[in-house]
Amino acid sequence: MSAVPPTLELPSSVELGLGQGGLAVARVVGPTGTAEVYLRGAHVTAWTPTGGAPVIWMSEKSQFRPGVPLRGGVPICFPWFAGHPTDATAPSHGFARLADWQLVEATEVGTDVVLVFSLTDSEATRASAWPHRFEARYTVSVGAELALSLRVTNRESAPVTYEEALHTYLAVADIRQTEVAGLEGAAFTDRLTGPRPAETEPVRFAAETDRIYQATTATTTVTDASTGRAITVAKQGSASTVVWNPWIDKAAGMADFGDDEYTGMVCVETCNIRDDAITLAPGASHELSVRYSIG
Ligand code: BG6
Repeated sequence: MSAVPPTLELPSSVELGLGQGGLAVARVVGPTGTAEVYLRGAHVTAWTPTGGAPVIWMSEKSQFRPGVPLRGGVPICFPWFAGHPTDATAPSHGFARLADWQLVEATEVGTDVVLVFSLTDSEATRASAWPHRFEARYTVSVGAELALSLRVTNRESAPVTYEEALHTYLAVADIRQTEVAGLEGAAFTDRLTGPRPAETEPVRFAAETDRIYQATTATTTVTDASTGRAITVAKQGSASTVVWNPWIDKAAGMADFGDDEYTGMVCVETCNIRDDAITLAPGASHELSVRYSIG
């Protein structure tokens, strides 16, 4: 399968080329924002609204080679989240972020540039821990806001269940002065210590933080007091949110994450995981969407 169908015409705001590691990348330079999306994983690695600072964080240590996910950007976790529950050899966060997606549409819509990527089951996915027939369409709309939408269709003749996450790494100037508001009142599972009751204050960071909030459709706002920038994360079709920062020890243990880089990022992930996993009837579709804007 080629990275783009032979008949696809690209508008002048979109260029297809080779990025790091010789991987195919779509570069967008639109009137209100720029972005970069690797076809491996349909992985957004950059978005900058015109006149603003980069919003999406990438590690300087990210590797760009087959079989290894990129560190940073917007990994698409599908069809499972974290480790597979029964197959320890299956890749963390599913196969979608390691797969070659196809760029099937590129258009200008008003001041936005819209890219659509497609992934369907293949011999490799059918031999994986999640062997089902499916179609995934991922829409990336680049402008003054970044809008992402993952639509999955069940192509089986029986129901299928999957987890999904847009595992976005947001850039902050100083995590120690950053807070994530909007999840107050929602109980969560701390992946380090277990179930926790709801809190009344925004999430603040002074140690490794790895929280799964479920049954919440709340909009979150990431505010970095050191710059005053607020990033709003508004979602639809998503019942779970994950907040993650690896802090010092976990960062030091990851080969593709610089020791001091944890100060410059926070993941606010738009998900349907665990009890919020999606079950689709034969032929049915579900769409998870998120929109990032700067306040
Ligand atoms: C987060 C998880 O979503 O992803 C963390 O909650 C995990 O536990 C992190 O460490 C990164 O995962 P990976 O597979 O990209 O290293």
